[in-house]
Amino acid sequence: MKKLIKAVRVKVEESELVRQKLISLSALDKSRKLLKKDGFIEIPVTENFITNDFTLIDQDHPQYYLQEKTVFIDVDIPDSEKKLLPHGWQILGDIIIVTLDEKLVDHKAEVGKALLSYYPGCRTVLLDRGISGQMRQPDREIIAGRDTTETVHKENGCLFKLDAMKIMFSQGNLAEKKRMSKLGKDETIVDMFAGIGYFSIPMAVHAKPKKIISIEINPVSFGYLKENIGLNRVGEIIEPIAGDCSKVTPRRIANRVIMGYLDGQDYLEAGINALLPCGILHYHEAVPEAIESRPVDRIIDVSRKLGRNVEITGRRRIKKYAPGVWHVVVDARVD
Ligand SMILES: C[S@@+](CC[C@H](N)C(=O)[O-])C[C@H]1O[C@@H](n2cnc3c(N)ncnc32)[C@H](O)[C@@H]1O
Repeated sequence: MKKLIKAVRVKVEESELVRQKLISLSALDKSRKLLKKDGFIEIPVTENFITNDFTLIDQDHPQYYLQEKTVFIDVDIPDSEKKLLPHGWQILGDIIIVTLDEKLVDHKAEVGKALLSYYPGCRTVLLDRGISGQMRQPDREIIAGRDTTETVHKENGCLFKLDAMKIMFSQGNLAEKKRMSKLGKDETIVDMFAGIGYFSIPMAVHAKPKKIISIEINPVSFGYLKENIGLNRVGEIIEPIAGDCSKVTPRRIANRVIMGYLDGQDYLEAGINALLPCGILHYHEAVPEAIESRPVDRIIDVSRKLGRNVEITGRRRIKKYAPGVWHVVVDARVD
């Protein structure tokens, strides 16, 4: 008998209340996405959920969150190598990005072809060898599909155009990007390491600040930042500035400053100087577990040196950056 893929079908305006109710009943299936169909919302629920209160349907076209997927690629290679096949990969727009154990690199074309066959909507597979340098540039190679590597990726209701051969896009910090997208209404914000608009675009789209000054040093990223401002129609909010933020960051202008670069300690002075009294700093750093107070100490030291009072208002781990090293964000109020 076919297994039912259950969802509750509700009116759009009732969906948030029902979702909360389903969470409280432990009935929400977190592996699938909420979908909008024919003016209704389908909220995924667990297989054993039974109800007389809601309309229960069998979903035709469920969509799964990538992290929860159970896709195993099948490639015609010796059994001893099969256990090395990847279980995870990144999908940006219509491009799949995968890293491979070095023993599988000779089979990269077969792996690429297998991945494309699982995702009919995708057209290119890139092999990733890591990200390096101040401009966070990836080292990638096309292993299957077409040779177009420019794509438009959708995240949190925003569009990000990028060339996946040349530009990184971290999905591990989605929760932080979502948190930031709710902050800054009517404020003036400086995003000192803007990239293609990872933080600036969602903040402009959702929080509607008065102004965001978005600074980026890499000319390729800067080109896409400008395109993404246009694609998301936020040209009246975001002012892009090309250059080195240690030189071009304006002083005493911002209610909020974002320093989304993991190696940005040398730029803290420029970041704090950009803040108006009672301004908020969001400072990211990659920090070894053994010295996890280092970003807080650095913010306090630089603020003191500049004669500014500071209060640390939050500190979060975002994701594992390397063994024993965390990507953390510290929020601070600077007077
Ligand atoms: C790591 S990316 C941003 C990533 C994003 N916050 C995320 O976590 O997905 C940092 C960006 O800062 C830019 N950058 C590095 N040094 C810079 C500087 N001195 N001035 C302006 N931009 C800089 C890099 O080119 C890159 O696009």
